[in-house]
Amino acid sequence: MGAQILDGKGLSARLRARLRERIEALAAAGHPRPGLAVVLVGDDPASAIYVRNKRRACEEAGIRSVAHDLPSTTSEAELLALIDRLNADDEVDGILVQLPLPEHIDTERVIERIHPDKDVDGFHPYNIGRLALRMPRLRPCTPRGVMRLLDSHGIDPAGREAVVIGQSRIVGRPMALELLAARATVTVCHSLTRDLEAHVRRAEVLVVAVGRPRFIPGGWVREGAVVVDVGINRLADGRLAGDVDFEGACERAGWITPVPGGVGPMTIVTLLENTLEAARLRGR
Ligand code: GUN
Repeated sequence: MGAQILDGKGLSARLRARLRERIEALAAAGHPRPGLAVVLVGDDPASAIYVRNKRRACEEAGIRSVAHDLPSTTSEAELLALIDRLNADDEVDGILVQLPLPEHIDTERVIERIHPDKDVDGFHPYNIGRLALRMPRLRPCTPRGVMRLLDSHGIDPAGREAVVIGQSRIVGRPMALELLAARATVTVCHSLTRDLEAHVRRAEVLVVAVGRPRFIPGGWVREGAVVVDVGINRLADGRLAGDVDFEGACERAGWITPVPGGVGPMTIVTLLENTLEAARLRGR
């Protein structure tokens, strides 16, 4: 067990306390409390848990969260009409539509309908484009949270070999853009990548977001690497496991995120910060 732990739980608790103080100070100075609309369509159990955690975190930080729980039969037109209403609602600073959406709904169209300045997930093409051009506005929560976790432990990816495994909209792609903006040399691996092991063995910063328990064997990890495990997988016995073989990776890594308690809490605190930032963008 040589690796040092990247403690997302501890950092996020400190950041949340600071955020709460800022929000209370703004409220005392007469600013309205930031408002976040959280939209959940259908009854995916994992999504329901994520959304519950986000709503609870809002409450603790002094952010108003407004729940919109819609049945899985909701049509795309109905969802788009809700987004139009939320875009026009002055009390709503941020809009979060939990993914994945039911298959009959076009995710792309829904994301594009959210006003970019209310897009607290940072998924809108405008916000992704800004990040790609190194002039970010609202940034996707998980990658941004990872960068803050690295920074708080004095880890600077500049000039390092960074390997991102996974190319999802939520994590892989924006993670690669964040690392590139931080001047790492970035490789993105995905299901068609040949010789994944060779890429992993080269990585000085390894970010894994594939959603498969212990997908990366610890023996592949480069000596001294920074290992960021974004996976949260439920095992048959009920325990949680990341995408990396944690025990094995600890023998070789310099730094590693635990699951749970690593990246997950950073995603949530970044969502809260994005909501405050969205309120600021709207002059509230
Ligand atoms: N589903 C899994 N992660 C996320 C996230 O960060 N935002 C949204 N909207 N949906 C998700």
